[in-house]
Amino acid sequence: MKINYTNQFVKSASDRIVELLQLTLRENSHFLLSLCGGSTPVPIYEALSERSADIPWSRVIITFGDERCVPPDHHQSNYRMADGALLSRVEIPEHNVLRMEGELDPHDAALRYESKLREAANSVGREMPSHDLVLLGVGDDGHTASLFPETEALKETNAFVAANFVPRLRSWRLTLTLPCINSSKNILFLVNDEKKYEIVSEVASGLSSYPAAQVAPRNGSVEWIVGPTIPKTSS
Ligand code: 6PG
Repeated sequence: MKINYTNQFVKSASDRIVELLQLTLRENSHFLLSLCGGSTPVPIYEALSERSADIPWSRVIITFGDERCVPPDHHQSNYRMADGALLSRVEIPEHNVLRMEGELDPHDAALRYESKLREAANSVGREMPSHDLVLLGVGDDGHTASLFPETEALKETNAFVAANFVPRLRSWRLTLTLPCINSSKNILFLVNDEKKYEIVSEVASGLSSYPAAQVAPRNGSVEWIVGPTIPKTSS
């Protein structure tokens, strides 16, 4: 697990994403990229929208790590956020963007997304919808995607997508599961908040029970890009 503390969070993150994309596309026809939600990634997505000279968008398939159970035009929608910061700004074919249908019944939407993922993987000659890169955030309770502590979706061992009721939010979420996330080739956690440094250290210690600590791909890498400053104690 590699942690890159940086004073240039957006540049470090967007450069690493472009680097992994270009490395993957040397050997593969497409780059399967899962976007995380929340507020942290917005400037990174905006920076990526300026990098179209480096990114053949027609060869990028976009999925979502999670979604709130709201319509796509709702202010809480992760799709709406990503569309505003990135997708509407680049020439990516509509069929390359796999939206989680937050407006539907959560269980139906999870089943539909699981099929979408598998179809997309098969369309580019892959058996399993294992991602080339999954972007993840982390919450102040150690959740990642919409895998919150002590919620049912954390127990999922087969399905790649789950509907997950989150008691602390009193709402349903759609989320990729650990089997899906842990089948990825690369995982990039994005943290840009000094209040989360404690969580980063605890997850890095390997002794944590946080959901974020359960992200451990069998044949993949986990990296953290952490800003906004380099802590005094970091080696
Ligand atoms: C979501 C996210 C969630 C997010 C963390 C961090 O839908 O909210 O997927 O896992 O990444 O809660 O959120 P911030 O970036 O807003 O701190």
